[in-house]
Amino acid sequence: MIKQNSIFEASTIKYIMAPVVSGFSKLSKADKIKWLAEHHFSNDATATNTLTTYWNSDDSLQQLHDEFTENTISNYYLPFSVAPNFLINNTRYTLPMTIEESSVVAAASKAAKFWQNRGGFKAEVLSTVKVGQVHFTYTGSYKKLAQFFTSVKPDLLQSVSSITRNMEKRGGGVQEIELRDKTAEIDNYYQLHCTFETADAMGANFINSCLEQFAKTLVTKAKQYNGFSETEKNIEIIMSILSNYVPQCIVRAEVSCAIDELPNTDQLSSQQYAKKFVRAVRIAEVEPYRAVTHNKGIMNGIDAVVLATGNDFRAIEAGAHAYAAKDGKYKSLTHAEIKDDRFIFTIEIPLALGTVGGLTSLHPLVKLALQLLGKPNAKKLMEITAVAGLAQNFAAINSLITTGIQQGHMKMHLMNILNQFNATDQEKEQLVEYFKTNTVTHSEVVTQIEKLRA
Ligand code: MEV
Repeated sequence: MIKQNSIFEASTIKYIMAPVVSGFSKLSKADKIKWLAEHHFSNDATATNTLTTYWNSDDSLQQLHDEFTENTISNYYLPFSVAPNFLINNTRYTLPMTIEESSVVAAASKAAKFWQNRGGFKAEVLSTVKVGQVHFTYTGSYKKLAQFFTSVKPDLLQSVSSITRNMEKRGGGVQEIELRDKTAEIDNYYQLHCTFETADAMGANFINSCLEQFAKTLVTKAKQYNGFSETEKNIEIIMSILSNYVPQCIVRAEVSCAIDELPNTDQLSSQQYAKKFVRAVRIAEVEPYRAVTHNKGIMNGIDAVVLATGNDFRAIEAGAHAYAAKDGKYKSLTHAEIKDDRFIFTIEIPLALGTVGGLTSLHPLVKLALQLLGKPNAKKLMEITAVAGLAQNFAAINSLITTGIQQGHMKMHLMNILNQFNATDQEKEQLVEYFKTNTVTHSEVVTQIEKLRA
């Protein structure tokens, strides 16, 4: 039995177990750090210093960040990078990218540069419908429930009019409410399956507010409905929540060029390159083990733009992977083909993004990122983000089918390894020079550092 606030050992590792704490969120930031230092870091000043080093010297900016979430004790930095030369629908963009993985921005920039001389990227939003559901239990005749639903539908819509007024002015609102019978899967389970347009907002709060109101109206009206028996009047709401599965909020992006405009090397002619590329994508269309990594590479680009523009990358990830499995088998989100001597590479992906609300006007770097993109509306941001995914996938497959991924990856990772060993500027300069002509591996970097220091 492990005692609270005790140090116990598992093999050679010591763990410290903190006491239960109540009212932690109400402590001041300084007291929260004091509590952490005392119970998790044996009052070692290094921990406190690490946390406070990352505070912003501008108090009001720090307060803004503190108030984004609960129990904020410091800031967690990620690089804010840019990838220039993205020609999208004949407009040139510099993409903001927030990501820690060393080679992603370099790869995106390389792909952008390659395609800017071949017509650039074309992107188009195909649909922008979002979904939310009220899940409920009803015990009784489905026919009566369907009749009740038809009679109550105008009341449902009316009950959210104060929530939808502003959204309607911006061109959004509730699109449709449908009653769905799910009793084949779970006894007495039904849904209000609702669709929405949310204009330039991602729309989560708008959708959830509408759904919770639909749920209340449904319950109240059922109680008053004369066509129901006493049992049927008792609709039980299980939950009301938007869906991050948005297969009708889709953007498509494409690049294409004549085959002889593709890379042509001693190892691979343009023709062979095109065939090998198409085959590599085809493998990700039939083999889930490959598809997951392939799509992960796409999400390297997408998440980086999503994060930089203050959007919810977890929602985007969940929706994208669900879409990749929509045909009953997980597969690639991109497709490549050769048609009439042209190489065509496309992506189709759901992206429920917003350019208003949330962090978009609050976080100074998010604001800057959106300015950098020319203050796009949600549809433009969907196009730009899909392009980031396609570019990233192009760069990854280009490396995989030619040099292999490690060459570029380890070159970019070199600086991380050097920093791990606290290399001085002079050491960095010498080793960067050395690795221009030598393969970067962790052990080779260590050997060379040791050699320099010997
Ligand atoms: C690494 O973050 C992403 C890749 O593995 C993607 C891919 O394999 O296509 C390089």
